[in-house]
Amino acid sequence: MEQLTKSANILVIDDDLGVRESLRIILRDKYAVSITSNIDEALVSMDSIKPEMIFLDIKMPKSNGLDFLKQMRSANSTIPVIMITAHPSIENTITSLRNGAFDFIVKPFQPEEILQVAEKALHYSNELWERDMLVNNLRKAAQQHFFSTTEALLQAIDAKDAYTAGHSKRVSELSAFVAKELDRNESEIEVLRYGAYLHDIGKIGVGDLVLTKPSYLTQEEFYLMKRHSEIGYKIIAPIKFMEKCLPIVRHHHEWYNGKGYPDGLQGSDIPFEASILSIIDAYDALTTDRHYHKKYPHQKACEIITQGIHTQFTPTLTEKVLAIIQRYHEAGKQREQREESLAH
Ligand SMILES: [Fe+2]
Repeated sequence: MEQLTKSANILVIDDDLGVRESLRIILRDKYAVSITSNIDEALVSMDSIKPEMIFLDIKMPKSNGLDFLKQMRSANSTIPVIMITAHPSIENTITSLRNGAFDFIVKPFQPEEILQVAEKALHYSNELWERDMLVNNLRKAAQQHFFSTTEALLQAIDAKDAYTAGHSKRVSELSAFVAKELDRNESEIEVLRYGAYLHDIGKIGVGDLVLTKPSYLTQEEFYLMKRHSEIGYKIIAPIKFMEKCLPIVRHHHEWYNGKGYPDGLQGSDIPFEASILSIIDAYDALTTDRHYHKKYPHQKACEIITQGIHTQFTPTLTEKVLAIIQRYHEAGKQREQREESLAH
């Protein structure tokens, strides 16, 4: 394994000035060494130092090195910690190892001993990093593979029903925009983006005649159509990394008054993300040509949704989402005008 460059940061925590200085002198040619005399100071500087390994004294006047080690372990830290002690005891050794200490150094120590243990610890830390990278890359590749397969499935639905072509993509983009404007965090925005993209995936299991019927559906046909949210749920359920999108796929047709499907959830029992998507889904359905209606202009679509507040749509949230859709619509119009003027 390649030796890490001098940029590898080492933190030394020891109340004994002599020990701190000798460790600094031994390590400084190869590593960037930061020293501190107590745990409180170390905790404050951890974020800025970003140590890749720590030399930690067990016995210090204010707080115990073993407590610090336990804290690191409960925070799932992977930084290798080397305990330093002048009085090794079986008890301390066992407690240190049980709490994830990487190694144990007894004072007085030799420079070679310190350099060897540092190299070993950084080698270990590097391997952990590489393993995490590998796992992350594999996860990304699996996700990529999943999304290209999904894209093919969605295109199959689009091909069955040209009227809804592009619906999933539009709804996904608008959902991510709305989530951002509602100050949701990065991962919540992604959940809405992907949940919205896949929300109608279950339509793959609905017959063409029902899907493309140019008039209103009979009760029996509507029953078949309604199954798409449960079918979609079953398609997505085995995929671990899509877990958080499941409520969106299953519940995007629930109504605020409990008269939606598939579970008849009511009010705040409807998952928040599903409530958001139901508004955006309706907006896109109203503003595009469908088998059973011509597209409505933006303003009319917003009015129709507003009329559905308290019955189909959640109050307050719907007003907020419509205000965001208004901004999205205006930005889209401005973009179109710019593109048009560039074309002429
Ligand atoms: Fe749907």
